[in-house]
Amino acid sequence: MKRTVQDLPADDLKGRRVLVRVDYNVPLEDDGGVADTTRLEASLPTLRYLLEREARPVLLSHLGRPKGAFEARFSLEPVAPVLERLLGATVQFAGPCDSRAAGDTSRTLGAGVVLLLENTRFHPGEKKNDPALSERLGDLGDAFVNDAFGSMHRAHASTVGVTEFLRPAVAGLLVQRELDALGRLRNDPGDPFVVAFGGAKITDKIDLLRLFTERADRLLVGGAMANTFLKAQGLPTGRSLVEEEALDVARDALRAAPQKILLPADLVVISDLSSDDPEVLVVPADGIPEGFAAVDIGPQTRDRFSREARGARTFFWNGPMGLFERDPYAAGTISVARATAEATEKGAFTVIGGGDSASAIRRAGLESRVSHVSTGGGAALEFLARGTLPGVEALDDA
Ligand code: 3PG
Repeated sequence: MKRTVQDLPADDLKGRRVLVRVDYNVPLEDDGGVADTTRLEASLPTLRYLLEREARPVLLSHLGRPKGAFEARFSLEPVAPVLERLLGATVQFAGPCDSRAAGDTSRTLGAGVVLLLENTRFHPGEKKNDPALSERLGDLGDAFVNDAFGSMHRAHASTVGVTEFLRPAVAGLLVQRELDALGRLRNDPGDPFVVAFGGAKITDKIDLLRLFTERADRLLVGGAMANTFLKAQGLPTGRSLVEEEALDVARDALRAAPQKILLPADLVVISDLSSDDPEVLVVPADGIPEGFAAVDIGPQTRDRFSREARGARTFFWNGPMGLFERDPYAAGTISVARATAEATEKGAFTVIGGGDSASAIRRAGLESRVSHVSTGGGAALEFLARGTLPGVEALDDA
């Protein structure tokens, strides 16, 4: 158990600078707008908690993957007015996070004002977890709150190194909520425990696949991941996306738990992935015609997967069931989103992890009807696989 912001005494907050690591790695539009504000909204409870206790929040985040130097397209400056509107409090933007100016501004910050600093990855020391940068970041606050769940699998200066120089170092409210939900899923899932996996890459999820092959009662496999499983069984996959280097992993999983793994029975396939008007067929999963590529699970599979999800007491979903970003092939993914909401209504504990499944549930308008949608992609999967994360380990014990 880790200490949280709620464990900090009022005197540690009132009038004090609280350095908050948030995850504002958000998609930006060409005109500088924020295309998806989910991660900003997810940070609001902690910011409000701090402002209500008259603390002075100083925010650090990364955005994108710049190479250790300023790049205008990765600047956090456009995020400040959006956050200001969502939070209903003044958000001041103050440039480079390791500058003397940032330190000076943090010390003179007015009451009720939030300070947002520039992208931590504009400094080469961030990803190297460089102690010199960590020390300078530590000077920006009197306490450290990590609320950047999506970044806690990264041992960087702003997530881990800074805690060597700034204590107390505690979890924010978002991190607390994520750890509670994912911890329950990992350590105490009620039976039947059903997992739906999709997306393209098995190699990103090998540990998790092994864990769930042991712990879950049923593993539903869709999306491009299913193609790899079909090929591992010796079936023809046409021009479908297959992860050749993961064929052995798929074979091992099928050998270890043949009765648990449920592959698609039918698929939607198309004649040309790059065409806007390809030939579209629904075929049995063992009958993908030569030259065709699978792009969604078929109607029979949608029904079967939905029934399995609705029968679960615990349900975890990661990865789309097909090319859901193209409307004609989104039906399988949307059906799993609906079944997740229905399972929740029937009393199941339901968790969605990973950016694509999270955006699918939002697109279906069902986000508030499931138990938990994680804001972490890699972080959520790593936490489920390992039970901890570097950014969590670095915090004060409760
Ligand atoms: C994410 O979006 O998953 C996090 O913000 C981490 O970003 P990264 O993969 O660039 O470290």
